[in-house]
Amino acid sequence: MEWIKYHEAEKVFDLRTENSTYQMQVREYDTLVHLYYGCPVGDSLITDRIVCVDRGFSGNPYEAGKDKTFSLDTLPQEYSSFGSGDYRESALDIRYDNGTRTLGLRYEGYEIIKGKYSIPGLPAMYADENEAETLVITLRDDVQDVRVKLYYGVVKDLDVITRSVSVENHGQAPVQLERVMSLCLDQPYGDWDWMTFYGKHEMERQLSRTPIHHGVQSVGSLRGASSHQYNPFVMLADKNATETSGECYGFSFLYSGNFLAAAEKDQFDQTRLIMGIHPENFEFLLREGEIFHAPEVMMVYSAEGFEKMSNCYHKAVREHVCRGRFKLERRPVLINNWEGTYFDFTGEKLLEMAKEAASCGVELFVMDDGWFGKRDDDNSGLGDWQVNEKKLGCTLSELAERIHGLGMKFGIWYEPECVSEDSDLYRAHPDWAFTVPGRRPNRGRNQLVLDFSREDVRNHIFDEMTKVLDKADVDYLKWDFNRSISDIYCAALPADRQGEVPHRYVLGLYEFLDRLGKRYPDMLIEGCSGGGGRFDAGMLHYTSQIWCSDDTDTIERLKIQYGTSFAYPVSAVGSHVSACPTGRFVPFETRAAVAMAGTFGYELDPAKLSEEEKTQIRGQIEEFKKYYDVIHFGDYYRLTNAMEEGPYAAWEFVSEDGNEALVSVVASRVRANDPGVRIRLRGLKENQMYLVNGVEYPGGALMHGGILLEEAKKEYQSWNYHITAK
Ligand code: GLA
Repeated sequence: MEWIKYHEAEKVFDLRTENSTYQMQVREYDTLVHLYYGCPVGDSLITDRIVCVDRGFSGNPYEAGKDKTFSLDTLPQEYSSFGSGDYRESALDIRYDNGTRTLGLRYEGYEIIKGKYSIPGLPAMYADENEAETLVITLRDDVQDVRVKLYYGVVKDLDVITRSVSVENHGQAPVQLERVMSLCLDQPYGDWDWMTFYGKHEMERQLSRTPIHHGVQSVGSLRGASSHQYNPFVMLADKNATETSGECYGFSFLYSGNFLAAAEKDQFDQTRLIMGIHPENFEFLLREGEIFHAPEVMMVYSAEGFEKMSNCYHKAVREHVCRGRFKLERRPVLINNWEGTYFDFTGEKLLEMAKEAASCGVELFVMDDGWFGKRDDDNSGLGDWQVNEKKLGCTLSELAERIHGLGMKFGIWYEPECVSEDSDLYRAHPDWAFTVPGRRPNRGRNQLVLDFSREDVRNHIFDEMTKVLDKADVDYLKWDFNRSISDIYCAALPADRQGEVPHRYVLGLYEFLDRLGKRYPDMLIEGCSGGGGRFDAGMLHYTSQIWCSDDTDTIERLKIQYGTSFAYPVSAVGSHVSACPTGRFVPFETRAAVAMAGTFGYELDPAKLSEEEKTQIRGQIEEFKKYYDVIHFGDYYRLTNAMEEGPYAAWEFVSEDGNEALVSVVASRVRANDPGVRIRLRGLKENQMYLVNGVEYPGGALMHGGILLEEAKKEYQSWNYHITAK
């Protein structure tokens, strides 16, 4: 097992996964130069493609003497630093106590370790010694004695290479970190497209694809959470790359706070990609001996288009990022009362809903917002995590018992990070909420954010939560976060550490979630932030599923779930059948077909359903359970591009052994004189015979000839084709 090699004579680091190779080289003056990331290249070392030419206005290291051909400004660098002659986007920017910011990183040494590294206090992909190897390269600025460690985790079978960085101050004087990117990747050649996922509350992760142009293009978040607006997952793709062909690279940031992902095409048409914590309002003070750890980026390279890349991410996130017993266990089909009642419920009403749902086969009842403190609308009560027994008409454990008595599991909603000004908690501790002294804060949903960078604040909320959770038998918890952060000021830190607060907040959040998960290992935790406002691989380390979007309109969900599928597995995507929230009527079976491409559940008042719809629910749940394994553990294929809004949207799941598939199709509109649509399936075995609706076909015929769809007779009609090997 040797996936990481150091070629001593050439000073080349050679990292290999099943379908990718990554190389870098220690060059003149101990500069670490990036050589190659792409298709396997046999035993070649790509060392002779580095162009060293005298170029105007691109300076040279002092040690180069009269040689004007070696310039940090033009070479592909492995990890660039600010101030010493590379004018592109830098990966590292440090301010010393004498006010200067020039940094010159030189190679110092390396270490290869079996297994995959982890990062203190931060989420990271995990893999055992038979699955992964780690390379640690040390770079050093000898003037200030700052050492930078570059971490590479090579997870061979999954085609994943992870990156992370730590910065250590070995000098006596403190240094101020101003920018620490987790990833810097220089692509010396190629015509790349920049693929990103933008959105808003109720319309997350919309795919955008534009050619990379000269200058810097970037996405990011300064909202304190990874955000609805831009997802911390980006891609570089060859301009001709498609789902099934062409080169592409994915970069997934395992971090749930402010981030920046930027691509810069430079003067010589080289592309640099950087990804990490957003440098705006970021500082971190390192005293002598202190270490800063940057979060992880998971990189995947595919030479065979997007779907190959996505399936690597799906497996990696599902099995090597998500943790706990639910990562591979079947999750219960749930009903959540939110869209059915909003704040307007009593214990009796919830029980009535639960009874109806249980009789249809629903397995978990979730009581959403409104069960605690004074909380009948969103203007008060957050922070007062005491059960409102008057509203429920009983204690929480009695309610849980009665729900369990129906043969269902029981879950509740929390929003631990926020506080209402109209709450006992805020009245007692106004300084626990982010507000800047002397300024009136920006409110979001009429609430403020608690300073989770502070241990005392976290401990208080943790204690309040455990008082409730220890008493009642709670099987599921929805962890919500319903605003963007502003007015950041931590009363417990001095002026020169205020820039650390956004990152310390995220560390605090992770510490809390970790503690909660360890205390209640059998409780399923679903993440949420007004739907998918914090849908990232970092959160998935703590919550094995995340409510994908507050937008439950089935047709809009097609696009949201399409975008989400590029980097995240179906098992992570919270999706429910709801009443028709936008007023657009979509047939009940179509709402279920789309919700089944996720964790599956209901978000409506079952008392308002017709008998026919209730019978349909029974059938849908049976169907979902029958297909559960192929949906949650199979490979995923985007058969149409949801962003193009064609007449049909289709996707397919195929079991790992290729013996079972499920194809879901939704007609987006009815067309007069429909020309007919053939959909070519993917991922099947060419010569295997399959049964589709009782008819036999070889896999090749289904993949190349396709299946002919029935003509849509009503708006938003849908079909599920279950395909089994004979
Ligand atoms: C957010 C969530 C919803 C619901 C409400 C409750 O918007 O995304 O699902 O839980 O909060 O206030």
